[in-house]
Amino acid sequence: MALKVDASNLEQARAWDGDEGAYWATHADYFDRALAGYTSALMTSAGIEVGDRVLDIGCGTGQTTRAAARTARDGAAVGVDLSSQMIGIARRLASSEGIGNATFEQADAQVHSFAAGEFDVALSRTGTMFFGDPIAAFANIRTALRPAGRLAILVWQGPGPNEWLRELSGALAAGREMGGPPPGAPGPFAMADPDHARKLLADVGFTDVEVDGLQAPMCFGADPQDAHAFVIGLMGWMLQGLDAAGRARARDGLSATLHSHYGPEGVTFDSATWLITARS
Ligand SMILES: C[S@@+](CC[C@H](N)C(=O)[O-])C[C@H]1O[C@@H](n2cnc3c(N)ncnc32)[C@H](O)[C@@H]1O
Repeated sequence: MALKVDASNLEQARAWDGDEGAYWATHADYFDRALAGYTSALMTSAGIEVGDRVLDIGCGTGQTTRAAARTARDGAAVGVDLSSQMIGIARRLASSEGIGNATFEQADAQVHSFAAGEFDVALSRTGTMFFGDPIAAFANIRTALRPAGRLAILVWQGPGPNEWLRELSGALAAGREMGGPPPGAPGPFAMADPDHARKLLADVGFTDVEVDGLQAPMCFGADPQDAHAFVIGLMGWMLQGLDAAGRARARDGLSATLHSHYGPEGVTFDSATWLITARS
């Protein structure tokens, strides 16, 4: 069956079900390691019980779906994501780890036809900031939850406290003024304003909305060479428009930044997220 994607999410679907998703799929271990400092806090706040039915929104390659399925051993976990490549890896990893109660579906969470009240818990590790119509998406997610079900989502704080973004994009900008997407536009920082996030969830009927700030180091590679290759794969699009000298300057700048962040835990940068919980 063809993937049903809302018109407002077509651009995201092209990226996540295209080259960007393919990169995430082949580097699942890098992304899981980068977010390792947040995963247990997210899973704890989701409060999953043995018999729960859990939805993982924008599950990617499914590390959090697998964790949810292990805890909900008499229940089930369902991961949905726009990326066929990442869903493929998620299925393979769940099967190789012998997890029989995790399933994965390529779907746009904003418009997917979930059964009403199908889930006890909905969670997401940085997968809810890309909706073209966040009101419609969170309303759809709320409908999928039973009354008084739990929502636990991890989203990025703004670029200010996220040293990784400032330093890596600063190096790759090589002196250019790059600008960012307008506030609230789909992208990593769409839920960075906690007041906006609280209002969004309250407007679609979630209650008991709480927003907690978390900080954790993020590891981008075992050593500077490893991190350089990973970051160029992830953010190399920033080199577009630079001439050969500019590209060399950007790569050298990146290299210098990565070396200055190299320590016993690999190449690490500070980062900051919001952990948002609510009741449906
Ligand atoms: C930053 S990645 C996070 C992936 C995963 N949760 C993790 O922590 O590794 C964001 C994910 O959200 C997914 N996504 C974006 N918009 C979506 C939508 N409308 N419906 C379902 N998934 C979506 C993307 O395909 C991508 O895999």
